[in-house]
Amino acid sequence: MPAEQPMYLELDGDGPLHAQLTRALKAAMRGGACGGTRLPPTRLLAQELGLSRNTVLAAYEQLRAEGFIDGRTGSGSYIAHPLPEAPPPPPVVQQEIGPQSVRARRMRDCHDHSAIPGRDVTGAVHSFQYGVPMTNPALTTAWARELSRAAQYTSPKYPPSQGLLALREATCDYLARRRGVHVSPQDILIVGGTQQAIALIADVLLDPGDTVAIEEPHYDAIRKVLLSRGASMQAVGVDAQGLVVGEIVQRRTKLVCVTPSHQFPTGAVMSLRRRTELLGHASRTGAWIFEDDYDGEFRYEGKPVPALRSLDRDNRVVYVGTFSKAMFPALRLGYLVMPPQLRRDFIAAKWMADFSSPGIEQAALAHFIASGGFERHLRLTAQQLKLRREALIDGLRACSRGRLQIEDSQAGMHLVVWLPGRGDAQVDALVRHAQGQGLGLYSIAPYYLRPQDRGGLLMGFGGLSVPQIEQALVLFRQSLDAVFPVLSAMQPPRRPVQRPTMRNRRGRSRAS
Ligand SMILES: Cc1ncc(COP(=O)(O)O)c(C=O)c1O
Repeated sequence: MPAEQPMYLELDGDGPLHAQLTRALKAAMRGGACGGTRLPPTRLLAQELGLSRNTVLAAYEQLRAEGFIDGRTGSGSYIAHPLPEAPPPPPVVQQEIGPQSVRARRMRDCHDHSAIPGRDVTGAVHSFQYGVPMTNPALTTAWARELSRAAQYTSPKYPPSQGLLALREATCDYLARRRGVHVSPQDILIVGGTQQAIALIADVLLDPGDTVAIEEPHYDAIRKVLLSRGASMQAVGVDAQGLVVGEIVQRRTKLVCVTPSHQFPTGAVMSLRRRTELLGHASRTGAWIFEDDYDGEFRYEGKPVPALRSLDRDNRVVYVGTFSKAMFPALRLGYLVMPPQLRRDFIAAKWMADFSSPGIEQAALAHFIASGGFERHLRLTAQQLKLRREALIDGLRACSRGRLQIEDSQAGMHLVVWLPGRGDAQVDALVRHAQGQGLGLYSIAPYYLRPQDRGGLLMGFGGLSVPQIEQALVLFRQSLDAVFPVLSAMQPPRRPVQRPTMRNRRGRSRAS
């Protein structure tokens, strides 16, 4: 058939011209609309379509590469017979169906991805997001070296479920020196962060319906894992001395979850009296204690607070530490100190969950700790974090004018800032205004199980440099002034109805 017969080509306007032409020619060939076995000469088609000849040449080249045009050259471009198979139609989007198991239903009920607190704020220039690690080029270099070394020397076999001995030894050493916890490598289980630790704790200790006491407020991710396992949650109050142990429902409570070194999120340090009380409660009632020591490494004033586990004579405490704060959360490594009577069950649970944590990362971390690199990194990080925390506190005080109350816990990578006399809805208004200005702020409300009458902000400072904190505070002040303007001297502010102020261990809650 002559090639000069007219062709009806429609370009779809999407992307570069040669790609549009390629698509149009493919469609014409498949639909038999090419009018013959030969494609028109490139010059002719270019003229007809008002395109450059190079565009047509590029399209023909692409068609030849994909098998639509026969390899023969010289006497024109022949349409291949048969044509290459059409790609399979795009998969039909499956409608989501209802949960297929009780567990799936529970997970759906308590895990709404779009409502996870502390997520990125769209369009934020700066964000006081909690849990963001410090950018640290020195750590990146050191870690790359450790990983490359470990990749060469680590066995490619499955690592032991309990974790590499070298990492368990290094962890024991570290725990003894820094956290006052004296255990042996056989007591340590290497886990995929605190999140896996709590899942294993639930596997080993809980049946659906068991009562678990959690601090109010608390780290929501732990509550959600426990709820998904069918636990019945009891929120127990927290004051300046930490968990109010007397509020725990006696006898029926199977597990008590606490953050004694640095209560999350208020920052209270659990007093010795409360620690003794809690351990006594566990020994008397047979309850277990989950000690979440998530950021015990970073304390800026005073001595580091020893872990609750260091006082545990009856082996009721399951102690969990993580490298998410001390290193970075992407590592997904942590450790669980198993009470000796539960060792076997924990190792079995870990095997069931994932056989073991990744071996190369474990080996790299073991060497990083044993060689002293980890503690050097901790020292430098603590210095930087201290400066960031001071910059944040100074800035907040400067713009407070009686509107903020800073809960200064002298530790960790976050602060709680209360807004006296304001409720959650007003805090949300501040958060929304700040977002409009390009600033990420986070209400403390999602960390409570029960609605509260006072609102506050959880302000993470680990991910912002001092200059960034200063810039973010300019935006913060603008939002604060816009949403909660300071009343003139003629109109004294309405005295807020307040609950007693949370005080830290030294009684130094800073009202600004
Ligand atoms: C109270 C608390 N525990 C534990 C973690 C760390 O969890 P993971 O080790 O799973 O990263 C965090 C992190 O934000 C936390 O806030």
